[in-house]
Amino acid sequence: MMGVRMNPEDVFRLVDKYNGRHGSIISILEDIQATYNFLPRGALKIVANRTGRSLVDMYALATFYRNFSLKPKGRHVASVCMGTACHVRRSPDVLEGFEQALAIRAGETTRDREFSLSTVNCLGACALGPVAVIDGEYYRNVKSADVEKILKHACRDENILKMTAEEEVFAVNVSCPRCNRSLMTREHRLDGYPMVRVTVSFHRKHGWVRLSSLYGDYRIESEYEIPPGVIAHFFCPSCHAELRSGRLCASCDAPMIILFVRGGGTVQFCSRRGCKEHMLDLADEEHLAL
Ligand code: FES
Repeated sequence: MMGVRMNPEDVFRLVDKYNGRHGSIISILEDIQATYNFLPRGALKIVANRTGRSLVDMYALATFYRNFSLKPKGRHVASVCMGTACHVRRSPDVLEGFEQALAIRAGETTRDREFSLSTVNCLGACALGPVAVIDGEYYRNVKSADVEKILKHACRDENILKMTAEEEVFAVNVSCPRCNRSLMTREHRLDGYPMVRVTVSFHRKHGWVRLSSLYGDYRIESEYEIPPGVIAHFFCPSCHAELRSGRLCASCDAPMIILFVRGGGTVQFCSRRGCKEHMLDLADEEHLAL
């Protein structure tokens, strides 16, 4: 098996590209993962030294996020969604189809390093499940009988079952984790989707803010402009509970905000304006008391 060469100069460049920007560690690790298909130990050491973080922190991040791998991955990375919505539509059969076709189990890489196979909890496109993703390209309504065809086309860069950009848009319908009242506002829409309405306070200002309900979209409308880098406090407009989850942002250590997703699960996002850390877990049954 061929070893994977890590070039320290390349890693220096990747780190320096972010110019010490606050909360850039995840982006640096993503770039390294994209360059080597895994996070070499030597690269993690360089990032730790260069950013003043500990190697332990690096490993904590590398093992927390499923997108990162400490072992070399295959040229193509296939993931099958095992979240609740996909699971009930028979994603275990799809996974079995991939395992048989590639002769590996989830979490493994083929001997020729062509394919790695993994599972994920939710890809944010539940209505189109079962969903699989190969090299960042989504495949919808996958059946086990489709697997051979999908693998063949992934290798040939032809994705006949690929989602259109429009289908990848995924709107969440959320409620307050404490009083369970809907946070959606029908009167205000963004790209045709109802927005999420909460109240925020920062720097002695207290006012409304409307958030895009499209997962991964950071557009907001607000009574007062929230300056970049400011940590805001978010509240339910009905019961006035503060919407903190108890978790800290993995990128910038600011508190994470939590909302319940109607139908089950949670969506969390960082309370710092400008930080793009967010997570959606539709398989998550945890009900965090506020
Ligand atoms: S995309 Fe599979 S459960 Fe959401």
